[in-house]
Amino acid sequence: MMCRFSRRLPFLTLSVGVIVGFFTYWVIVIRPYKPYKVDEAGFMDSYTVSAGFDNVTGVDHFIVPDIIHFIRFRNFQLGFIDYVALKAAMRNHRPDKFYFHTDVKEAKCEGKYWEWVKNDTELWSRIEIKYLEMPTEIFGQKLSDDSGIYHASDISRLRILKKYGGIYLDNDCYVIQPLDKYRKFECVVNWDEDQFLGNQVIIANKNARILPMWLNTYRVYRSDEWYYNGGERPTQEILHRHPELIHRVKGSFGADTGVSSNLYTDPDMDWRRLDIIHLLASHRSYMDPNFNITPVFDENTIRTYPYPFGEMAREVLDMPQP
Ligand SMILES: *[C@@H]1O[C@H](CO)[C@@H](O)[C@H](O)[C@H]1NC(C)=O
Ligand SMILES: *[C@@H]1O[C@H](CO)[C@@H](O)[C@H](O)[C@H]1NC(C)=O
Repeated sequence: MMCRFSRRLPFLTLSVGVIVGFFTYWVIVIRPYKPYKVDEAGFMDSYTVSAGFDNVTGVDHFIVPDIIHFIRFRNFQLGFIDYVALKAAMRNHRPDKFYFHTDVKEAKCEGKYWEWVKNDTELWSRIEIKYLEMPTEIFGQKLSDDSGIYHASDISRLRILKKYGGIYLDNDCYVIQPLDKYRKFECVVNWDEDQFLGNQVIIANKNARILPMWLNTYRVYRSDEWYYNGGERPTQEILHRHPELIHRVKGSFGADTGVSSNLYTDPDMDWRRLDIIHLLASHRSYMDPNFNITPVFDENTIRTYPYPFGEMAREVLDMPQP
């Protein structure tokens, strides 16, 4: 036995050498360069949420993939506010990936702000574009003519999370603090006292029990109401009965419109105490009494803008504070 083994040794060594050599070659040369790995498939099936899930402490490891999801229906342009929000999410949370879900066919990253994104290798290497059909109906009911695009986004964010899990953000959510502490929960939602839940930030495992229930609430769809299905109905039908289905965040995701308006009015606002804030920049025309002084935000007007949003934008754009 010994004898036969040692005669085979050189052959064995050679074989191992060839295998190791090829593997090294494969890792270095053949395998495409992928610096930030997201094991989608692993996350999809590895964690099953059970009925006793502790919504107060969560678990001791990450169960939400580090993917930030944005939805861009009908418009794939990147505007200044979109760019600031993207930079803030990168600077202050640094996810593995950003998925842009869009129904724009062959969406191209063109225009000034996309060019700036491409120039930032760390950021650009994390971006993936996923084609997503915009829904036009739900359970056989046609989506509204006026707010259909918003309702389509409300529905799609739930479906996206059900497919991948991750962190859904509205395009105008500015991330202030790292969000890892929320990646240990089944589902995290901002639900302020005596309010409806805020659906502009949803952090969830793909198997979160609330996601199919939430989608199911669309069996009663009110096309003429902006936030009935987005927030009112899921709060009443699900959260009032089963608050344990979410880790409830109060205030920290900046869902409160009254808080957001301070970004444009209160120089002393303590915005850093929040984890995220909804910028609501497209609502400034009626929300912001100083709107007429600075109707447009861009890389020029922001340099001297005196309210908190100015400081926030300059910070992530590496501009000097005046
Ligand atoms: C990209 O970065 C390079 C080097 O920092 C700079 O010279 C160039 O102007 C940048 N281009 C754009 C479009 O920002
Ligand atoms: C956890 O669930 C309970 C209901 O079981 C609820 O009263 C409580 O608000 C939830 N806590 C958090 C932090 O979400």
